[in-house]
Amino acid sequence: MTTTARESAATAAARMSQHERHRRPYESVLDTIGWTPLIRLNRVTRGVRTPVYGKAEFFNPGGSVKDRIGLPIIERAEREGTLKPGGTIVEGTSGNTGVGLAIAAALKGYRCIFTMPDKMSQEKVRLLKAFGAEVIITPTAVPPDHPDNYVMMAKRIAKETPNAILANQFYNEANPEAHYATTGPELWEQTEGRITHFVAAAGTGGTITGVGRYLKEKNPKIRIVAGDPHGSILAEMWKTKGKGHPEGAPYKVEGIGQDKVPGTLDLSVIDDYQTVSDRDAFAMARRLTREEGLFVGGSAGLITHVALGVAKELDDPKAFVVTFLCDTGERYLSKLYNDEWMRENQMLEPEKGTLATVLGVKRGGVPAMVSVAPGSTVRQAIGLMQQHDVSQLPVMDGTNCVGSVSDWALSGKSVESAMLLDATVSDIMDPPFPTVEANQPVESVAKLLSKTNPAVLVRRDGKTEGIVTRSDLLQFMMNR
Ligand SMILES: Cc1ncc(COP(=O)(O)O)c(C=O)c1O
Repeated sequence: MTTTARESAATAAARMSQHERHRRPYESVLDTIGWTPLIRLNRVTRGVRTPVYGKAEFFNPGGSVKDRIGLPIIERAEREGTLKPGGTIVEGTSGNTGVGLAIAAALKGYRCIFTMPDKMSQEKVRLLKAFGAEVIITPTAVPPDHPDNYVMMAKRIAKETPNAILANQFYNEANPEAHYATTGPELWEQTEGRITHFVAAAGTGGTITGVGRYLKEKNPKIRIVAGDPHGSILAEMWKTKGKGHPEGAPYKVEGIGQDKVPGTLDLSVIDDYQTVSDRDAFAMARRLTREEGLFVGGSAGLITHVALGVAKELDDPKAFVVTFLCDTGERYLSKLYNDEWMRENQMLEPEKGTLATVLGVKRGGVPAMVSVAPGSTVRQAIGLMQQHDVSQLPVMDGTNCVGSVSDWALSGKSVESAMLLDATVSDIMDPPFPTVEANQPVESVAKLLSKTNPAVLVRRDGKTEGIVTRSDLLQFMMNR
């Protein structure tokens, strides 16, 4: 065996002992739920001294944290005798809970009916159907007590279907209990009790409530920090200790935030609540994927945005911040991982354009530059402007710009003297347009342009490549 091979075998062996839990076969996929890895964030934390780790819930077989609550909810209903063989499980779900329930239901032989708001991604709908569930799409923009609201509709279906239960994740104590029994102890063990801050967001609140209660019992000093999307009412309800009446507004991040406080959310375990925009949440999710190789959804981005803020403020290498990576990015390929969707929703920073970009966009049958020679007549210059539908021309002597003419200046001068039309351009021309390099940012050129100086010449490698006018710039800004 070569030294390299020996070294790789040693590394593989070290890795294997780290992956202790997969060394024996499992009885079913349900046994693989939980014990998700805790992974250090190394790149998005550049310059931050506080260590930040992510609990990678997308490692669960259904790709999200919600796998943890599917089986406990079903088993509780079985114990209580409300769910009998051949029964139906109904739930209003933003997708992930549906998958968690559907996996357990598939193995236990139950039928699933899920209602889901129409803002949820197509991938999620298809995924639930793949597990054999029936999916009913409901409108997002209805008040929480409207009969078409996805939770209200699920309740009605559960009532009207024989031998059916409502999984009721928003009020079912089996939900926070599952996190108290699994996610909390895992974090305590994985960090060897060193965790100082747990950052998460509440959808049902099951995760933050269950984990928060467990960790605070272990060490009351551990801080529980919550993130909330702009538009959700939860952060405001926490600030007002449940007494406020905030108005909810639509937002794009899925699975977290609410327009009413769920029964499974215990606001008293939370020490700080911070709101985050969709834009920041999605930007961080994309960074986690590209920089850390952690392919996550928008909620993980939102939570990590908060976690990094916490870590920066702490500036303490001895602290131990844990962020929660709730689900896989595969569920959002048509949304936050689709540049077109991001642009349509004003979620992407506009591209930093250069003059070369403006010239590139301009080219569409229009010559990069129309110019006139110094010896031409004014009549010829005006003819050129009309032919090409432009309002100004550089006067070019070979490759040198020696002056400029514009319809605005010419019309003024021709009113003064009718002889002007037959004058030579060099006799009446204005000073040349300024010349700028093609790699100059668009913004830096904007201030060079004015009514008296309506264009700039663009030069690359010492050669004049084209002209950019005030109207070209306006057009570019509009399309950006
Ligand atoms: C993507 C995603 N992230 C986070 C959460 C929040 O978890 P919890 O409902 O335990 O508060 C959910 C819940 O639906 C979710 O789907």
